[in-house]
Amino acid sequence: MMDILENAATRWLSRRAQPQPSALAAIVGLTPAVVITGGASGIGLALAHEFAKCESALVLVARTQSRLDRAAAEIAAQRPGVRVETLLLDIASPDAADVINAILAEKRLYCDVLVNNAGVGQSGPFSASAIGGLDALIATNITAVARLTRAMLPGMLARGRGGVLSVASLGALIPGPHQAAYYASKAFVVSLSEAIRSEIAGRGVRVAVILPGPVETRFHARMDAEGALYRYFIAAASPERVAALTVRGYRLGRGLIAPGIVPTLAVSVLRILPHAITVPVVRWLLDTGRPILPPGPSI
Ligand SMILES: NC(=O)c1ccc[n+]([C@@H]2O[C@H](COP(=O)([O-])OP(=O)(O)OC[C@H]3O[C@@H](n4cnc5c(N)ncnc54)[C@H](OP(=O)(O)O)[C@@H]3O)[C@@H](O)[C@H]2O)c1
Repeated sequence: MMDILENAATRWLSRRAQPQPSALAAIVGLTPAVVITGGASGIGLALAHEFAKCESALVLVARTQSRLDRAAAEIAAQRPGVRVETLLLDIASPDAADVINAILAEKRLYCDVLVNNAGVGQSGPFSASAIGGLDALIATNITAVARLTRAMLPGMLARGRGGVLSVASLGALIPGPHQAAYYASKAFVVSLSEAIRSEIAGRGVRVAVILPGPVETRFHARMDAEGALYRYFIAAASPERVAALTVRGYRLGRGLIAPGIVPTLAVSVLRILPHAITVPVVRWLLDTGRPILPPGPSI
């Protein structure tokens, strides 16, 4: 049933596709790959497992070799027929797209699906945020998503197939006091994805963005947010469930995927209620109690 629905979605999404013969000739003998940034752990790894059920090659990108090796071994053990390559790379580096394309060419692969999953958070008052962390957040969550998408999209359009799946957050729909830059960065991802989806409608390329609520990964501890109330009051979903719902939505050609009943309801609520009501609630949920001034002299 899923295959029938996926084929119907593909036909609709390809109604104006114009594959270029030269682009198709260029991939003869190459294997289509799903490139997953941050594919070594958390949601990215769960997405890798899910894509491994229906795709033949994966490229996992992250900055920690041991985690990449573990992830690749895990997937290979479960899906021996799937090729899993790893790439040790900081996607925030300016030449990240070139490095990915070079490794794809070397391995005789091409990017059929780009999953913009890698992301970092930053918790605490914006006025006290570490400048280095802020720069890294913008470079990873915003610049890298835009650059990688810009790098991979033309090839997909020329081939009249493929897709870009970006991981945003429910936080994209609302300002997030005490995670201000993070929430703003995810708003960028949603806006970019929806705009591109409209620009290329019918050209054979899927563009989807997902809006998960809290998910049980190392993400919260990494940004030192474990003390915030949302960690106690909102049940976190498992990465596996989020990934299963995401890949199903992606295959069905959906543009905006809220993975689960709670995120789906939350999307409606956040779109209806005014910020005057929702932002103070979010502030209360995200507050970690850290002071609004950085340590040391402020002027
Ligand atoms: N967890 C949640 O509650 C939640 C909710 C909504 C949305 N999200 C989003 O979901 C995505 C995945 O988060 P997660 O929860 O799975 O977090 P995670 O467990 O911390 O995983 C993040 C992955 O991204 C990689 N990564 C981070 N920065 C990178 C960089 N500059 N270059 C390459 N790889 C990088 C990390 O590996 P290395 O550190 O080894 O590079 C890791 O594999 C993020 O975009 C996050 O914003 C998470």
